[in-house]
Amino acid sequence: MAGEADPRWAVQVDGLWERFRIAGDRPPTLKERLFTFRRAEYRQFEALKGVSLRIRHGESVALIGHNGSGKSTLLKCIAGILPADEGSVRVDGRLATLLELGAGFHPDLTGRENVYLNGAILGLTRREVDGSFAAIVDFAGVGEFIDTPVRNYSSGMYVRLGFAIAVHVDPDVLLVDEVLSVGDAAFQERSLARMRGFVERGKTVVLVSHDLGAVRALCRRTVVLDHGRLVFDGPTDDAIEAYEELVAGGAPPPEPEPDPVGPARTGDGGARIVDARLLPAVDGARPSGTTAQLVVSFTAEEAVREAGSLSLGIAVRRPDMALYVYETRTAWRGIYLAPPRPGATAAVTFTLDLAVLTGEYLVDLLLVNASTGVIHDRWQEALGFTVTSPEHDFGVAALDARIGVANPDGFWPAELHAPPPERGGPREHPLREDRPSPGHEPDVPRVDPALAR
Ligand SMILES: Nc1ncnc2c1ncn2[C@@H]1O[C@H](COP(=O)(O)OP(=O)(O)OP(=O)(O)O)[C@@H](O)[C@H]1O
Ligand SMILES: [Mg+2]
Repeated sequence: MAGEADPRWAVQVDGLWERFRIAGDRPPTLKERLFTFRRAEYRQFEALKGVSLRIRHGESVALIGHNGSGKSTLLKCIAGILPADEGSVRVDGRLATLLELGAGFHPDLTGRENVYLNGAILGLTRREVDGSFAAIVDFAGVGEFIDTPVRNYSSGMYVRLGFAIAVHVDPDVLLVDEVLSVGDAAFQERSLARMRGFVERGKTVVLVSHDLGAVRALCRRTVVLDHGRLVFDGPTDDAIEAYEELVAGGAPPPEPEPDPVGPARTGDGGARIVDARLLPAVDGARPSGTTAQLVVSFTAEEAVREAGSLSLGIAVRRPDMALYVYETRTAWRGIYLAPPRPGATAAVTFTLDLAVLTGEYLVDLLLVNASTGVIHDRWQEALGFTVTSPEHDFGVAALDARIGVANPDGFWPAELHAPPPERGGPREHPLREDRPSPGHEPDVPRVDPALAR
């Protein structure tokens, strides 16, 4: 399941949404706030829209995209600095980050103190930092400034010291955001060499950069972000081409209006899902524990036929939960799909055991090129279904407890041991606030419409 750490991956990002509240046009005046209770108006801005990304141990991956496309936000989520609003992020191994300028430095402490502080944050002992201290200072080239509070550093010194610490603590995963552009040419050269050494030693690097030369030099794989969506994931040369096409497309495409019912679809369209249905067709809810077949059909263009095999993925979500309930792809099962010839339609059937409890479920579909990772069609909320289960359990997975009791005094008669009436009944999760509890129901007498007539 997507939410679990999987040792195959150094970084595992699944269905990540990151939303920021941004203040509306006009903040309320104090008077308005006091007398009309008008609160500041916020609108929600989606900086990352359902990003999924898996990075193997030892892989170096670049993130590119226009300003504001979400690169830094994605790095911060991977670093654990920003919590995911939806979806999940896992990192396997010791993580070091070089994010915004001076992030992680305390301005009033000296360079030396910051080195020890950062080392401690990254899990090193004092002795370990002692061991690399000279090398760090040497690499950073800050000289006698090491005993000056870092607030007096130039931006280049900040970055050099940060980089020196990050590469000397020997992390397993290094996240680097745009630092190469800050230092001077000599520093850039040295950092690039360092990062290359890193990659060669089998470490994982995620690099955000607008410097496409550095991206080419360091990363064979590159991911392109566009308005918070992952639009390309594959070989760096192809990614740069895709990015340049995006940029050449002139003004960024208008933000699609969020459509409350319609599907969110992205991808290059080289292969397309044309139909998705869940069989047997039923009116209303499906009983928990029954089997259903998800049949997905797709077409492909000639160019895609030549570009290799396809992988079709399904992800099942609950609209009220951050984690995927279930996700799989044909390629993860070793099934690589030959693109159908133009005009023809191929279909894949996923037979699913609906071992889930009462709730609404949404299905996202994904059609990707199995070798390059190019997303041909990502169809979010392609379909949905509901499940009903017996009243006595709550949650998502139908773990179906069988209950045994060993009681030397025997069972109590049920009527003597009736449970106290629970607020909200057995199905209401104590943390859910989106449904009114029975105590707050309006005082309208309920009349059976059949009797009212
Ligand atoms: N704390 C925040 N509050 C509100 N909006 C934010 C916040 N952080 C980022 N954003 C917005 O999220 C979007 C993505 O920002 P992000 O910094 O991830 O972009 P980026 O791809 O790193 O851009 P750049 O190439 O300019 O560094 C931008 O529109 C930005 O304004
Ligand atoms: Mg950025």
